[in-house]
Amino acid sequence: MTSRIPVHTRSAQYDVVIGAKLLDQLGEHLAQLGVKQESGVFIVSDETLAACGHVQRAQEACTQAGYPTAVAVVPPGDESKSLSTAERLYNALLDAGMRRDGVLIALGGGVVGDLAGFVAATYQRGIRFIQAPTTLLSHDSSIGGKVGVNLPRGKNLVGAFHQPLAVLFDVTALSTLPDREWRNGMAEVIKHGVIGDAALFASLEANPVAVFPGETQAEELVARGAKVKIQIVEQDEKESNLRMLLNLGHTVGHAVEQASSYGLGHGEAVALGMRVEAEIAAARGWLSQRDKNRLLQVLSAHGLPIVPPDYPLEDILAILELDKKHTRSHWTFVLPQAIGDVAICRDVTRDEVVSAWHHSRKEESSQ
Ligand SMILES: NC(=O)c1ccc[n+]([C@@H]2O[C@H](COP(=O)([O-])OP(=O)(O)OC[C@H]3O[C@@H](n4cnc5c(N)ncnc54)[C@H](O)[C@@H]3O)[C@@H](O)[C@H]2O)c1
Ligand SMILES: [Zn+2]
Repeated sequence: MTSRIPVHTRSAQYDVVIGAKLLDQLGEHLAQLGVKQESGVFIVSDETLAACGHVQRAQEACTQAGYPTAVAVVPPGDESKSLSTAERLYNALLDAGMRRDGVLIALGGGVVGDLAGFVAATYQRGIRFIQAPTTLLSHDSSIGGKVGVNLPRGKNLVGAFHQPLAVLFDVTALSTLPDREWRNGMAEVIKHGVIGDAALFASLEANPVAVFPGETQAEELVARGAKVKIQIVEQDEKESNLRMLLNLGHTVGHAVEQASSYGLGHGEAVALGMRVEAEIAAARGWLSQRDKNRLLQVLSAHGLPIVPPDYPLEDILAILELDKKHTRSHWTFVLPQAIGDVAICRDVTRDEVVSAWHHSRKEESSQ
């Protein structure tokens, strides 16, 4: 089975296609998307994906279908999301003779998707690109058109909105994903359940999926998480308001991730963020204790942390203070109101965050 979910935004329409062995059919997909054989095709990926054989699979499928295809591979990890790597890729595109009608394929996780998407958005003022996500987490990052790179002073500080020609999610590639990366991705699937799919959440509650469950179930999970994201980005392409709901767990999550010097995975940090934010919501009476406990249980059942490490709280608060969504006295958070229902709250105080943090930490001794 293959799932095809259309995305309609103001600036573009494209499909998110999810299924097994899609990389082996890349040539047919290029033809369906109207890419001409004389247009250049260029795959950007990372060394791990090359070692797993996914890059070769994709390149062979393109060349066999008559698309001469060049490849550039970057080292794995967030350090590659940099202007210097982007410059290296611009030069590789020039060396390969890529013109404005060429198509770039971002084959990898969120790092490759953000980096290659940024290169596609800016090379010769923008060329077409295809997202070919290979991590569970990148069901989130590959949809919505946000692309960018980091600066030494912070993550994602340079970027653009550039919608892909298509998102082709080959769930077969997930079979080589390390278990920890699978769990990081599950944090975003759980997040999408809390934001807008109570039935998805309930199914994870009944049957936790802490490791790769095989292609059929992976396709179902990716499709359901993707649908929640798509519904929101369709209504709000450029993050004016509604799109902010996708930040559930990310306000505290980003601060914790930074405080860990990125020792915590993104999904692990988001799990901790969802926990602390659920405590804020519960203390306000927005979220029932029952739903809060359901969330904690689902996160734990997926091997995700729910007790923040012993970081100095002052460090976390100092990072939160820099968040551009906040004013001096009132901080903006996305808070859960129930499983499947979240709301933006613009008047969270520093004291509420302090109290929620302590509450989350207190349970360390009782676990
Ligand atoms: N643009 C957005 O809207 C958005 C949203 C969320 C996150 N992000 C970004 O996404 C990035 C994180 O994405 P990620 O977690 O996918 O990280 P990643 O791309 O670094 O992938 C994680 C690791 O898994 C490896 N890997 C990827 N696919 C594999 C496979 N199929 N088999 C074996 N190994 C594989 C990679 O080489 C890497 O080491 C961050 O930079 C974050 O800022 C962007
Ligand atoms: Zn995220």
